Order: sequence, then structure tokens, then C-alpha cells
Amino acid sequence: PEAITIQELANRMAERAVDVIKLLMKQGQMLKINDVIDADTAELIASEMGHTVKRVSESDVEEGLFSAADADDALESRPPVVTIMGHVDHGKTSLLDALRRSNVVQGEAGGITQHIGAYQVEQGGHKITFIDTPGHAAFTQMRARGAKATDIVILVVAADDGVMPQTKEAIAHAKAAGVPIIVAINKIDKPSADPSRVRTDLLREDIVVESMGGDVIDVEVSALKRLNLDKLLEMILLQSEVLELKANPSRTAEGIVIEAQLDKGRGPVATVLVQKGTLKVGDILVAGSEWGRVRAMLDENGQQVKEAPPSKPVEVLGFNGTPAAGDMVAVVENEARAREIVDYRQRQKRDKASVLASGARGSLEQMMN
Ligand code: GTP
Ligand code: MG
Repeated sequence: PEAITIQELANRMAERAVDVIKLLMKQGQMLKINDVIDADTAELIASEMGHTVKRVSESDVEEGLFSAADADDALESRPPVVTIMGHVDHGKTSLLDALRRSNVVQGEAGGITQHIGAYQVEQGGHKITFIDTPGHAAFTQMRARGAKATDIVILVVAADDGVMPQTKEAIAHAKAAGVPIIVAINKIDKPSADPSRVRTDLLREDIVVESMGGDVIDVEVSALKRLNLDKLLEMILLQSEVLELKANPSRTAEGIVIEAQLDKGRGPVATVLVQKGTLKVGDILVAGSEWGRVRAMLDENGQQVKEAPPSKPVEVLGFNGTPAAGDMVAVVENEARAREIVDYRQRQKRDKASVLASGARGSLEQMMN
């Protein structure tokens, strides 16, 4: 970081903050314990107090964490990752549930599947991964961090309501991320349904569906009456063939945290979408400023799995803390490396927080005193 509080500098040198303040005073700077000094000043102080200074930059610590592109011949095709977006109440959750239920093995604990932020279904021997984004905010955040979690966006538009503000937002998100859209015109079972109005509404948003001469696929569905769900799945597979989605399964895993929470019994539980490589039980991983050793992995049916190849979402048990949705996940070679990275990131987080907390105020108070 370019700045550090006096307290934090003292902590890192294992010196008393008051001694740091005295030294600064000798140099004509009247500062308090929570004031921020820049890196050059901090370095000067540290060396005057007899410490050797090693400035650690992100590039040193994070070097090689996310490895270079894979060779073409190492790549194998992988299932598409699909996110369902759309306006409030247009049926996103219903559609997700309907798509999953049609694929849950009969006789499984009353057909009830436990909640998981992402799941896979199979259609004609091909897998499709669905992510249940908790809302546009999470999607935006992931994108802001440069994480691309989705290959295809299913835009749900209720046939009795048409294009609404959040429909437009979803379109904007998908376009900004360069992700192709498939339109699911939902609730066609309703007497008031008007699918053609949806198509003309979409024209105004520059979404031209095939029947109107464009190249955006649209499917009329009813999540409630389970109409045309197979057709929707087929269209997703068609679209993903065009995208030629590939990943190298034979390398250390990388992925992204879809959601995470602290479970009373099981500790931190993170739903991880594997994007490259294969995640294995026993792997040591870092995610944001947390790390852990994979103790167990569960699929969307609560079944234990030993390995998770590209595009597979799994619940990961074994984190020492709870990572955040959108955190990038990387497997590292050993615990020491994991600790090094996480220590560095946690320190950075603290520095940022204390700089923010004291930053501008510090200089003003200096002038007043
Ligand atoms: P938010 O998460 O609040 O944004 O809503 P959502 O988009 O997830 O919608 P949800 O699936 O909760 O559905 C909203 C309402 O529409 C519920 O009452 C559903 O039963 C109803 N609904 C969803 N799909 C259909 C459908 O195909 N036909 C009919 N008639 N109703 C539907
Ligand atoms: Mg919902």
C-alpha cells in the first residue's frame, strides 16, 4: 500500500507507537496514532529504528497464482454456465426450480433438493450449469473484479408484463459482459400473456429475436405449467456449441465463489464454480482473504464428490474463514503459500480500512491543533 497508519507500522516493527510518534515529532511532524503516513516516510522511520524494510508488492505475492493460458491441445469442451436474469416476479426462481426438478432423480428424498447457489442438469447426455445470482448487484460486483462467471444469460420476461426496468438492466449487464442472451418468454399459460408484445418491446432494446429477423434465440415457456422447458435446454446447448466452451481439466483448479456462509455445524461453506482444472478433496485453496484445505465437496444433491472438473459447482467445506461471493479461487501448492497470500491480502484490507477511516480527517486535525 502507498500509506499506512502509525499504529500498523509500529505493530509490524513490534515497536511502540509512541516511539514512532516521538521520532516523527523530532522530524517536525505532529501526528497521532491513527494518522496515516506515506510509504516513503514509513520506510525512513523503520530504518531509523533499525529495521530492514522490504516493500512487498502485489505482483510478488500473487505471482503465478493464476497461471497462464493453457495450450490448445490441453483444452477439452466443458458445460456452459448459465445465469438467469430478469425483472422482479417474472419467474426467475420458478424457472430455475422447474429446470432443476425436471432433472432430479425420481425417488430422491421426496424430490426436495437442498439449496445451493448453483447446480447442473443433464439434457441428452450434455451437462448445463445454472447459477442462481442473488441479484444484479452480485453480477455487477463479479464483473467489476474482472471475474467472468457466466457464458450465457437467460433473460426471463413475463409475457403478461413485457420489458420492465430490471429487464433493461439485465440486458445492459449481459451486453457489457459480452455474454449472449437467450430470451425466455415466461408465463405463457396466463390468459393475459402476449408474447409478441415482448418481442416488439425487446426490439426497442436492440434485442432482435430470430422470428423478427435477428439472431437472438427466444423460447416461450411456462415455469408453472412446465411448458417448453426441454426446448429451452436444447437452445442453451445449441448456443453453447456455437461458443465452443473449453477448459483444461488436468491442472490445478481455479474458480469463483458463487456464495458463501458460515454454517453452524459445518463451519464456512462456499459454493465454488470450478472454471479451470479439477478441484480435489485435500487441495489447499485461497479465495479472497481466506484459505482452507478441501475437507469435503458436495454436489447440488448433497452427494459427496471427490473431484470437480471445469464448470462444476460444488459446496466446499474446509475454509478457515468465510470468503465473499465473487472471490476468485486458486489452488496453491502448500499451506505456507496459502498463508503468505492470505496474510498479505488481509493486511492490505486492514491498511485500506484504516487509511479510509483516518485519512482526510488526520490532516485537518493536524492543522487545527
Ligand atoms: P424475484 O426473485 O422476486 O425477482 O422473482 P422471480 O423472478 O424469481 O419470480 P418467481 O419465480 O418468484 O415468480 C413470481 C410469481 O410468478 C410467483 O407467484 C410464481 O408462481 C409466478 N410464476 C412464475 N412463473 C410462472 C408461470 O410460468 N406462469 C404463471 N402463471 N405464473 C408464474
Ligand atoms: Mg427469485
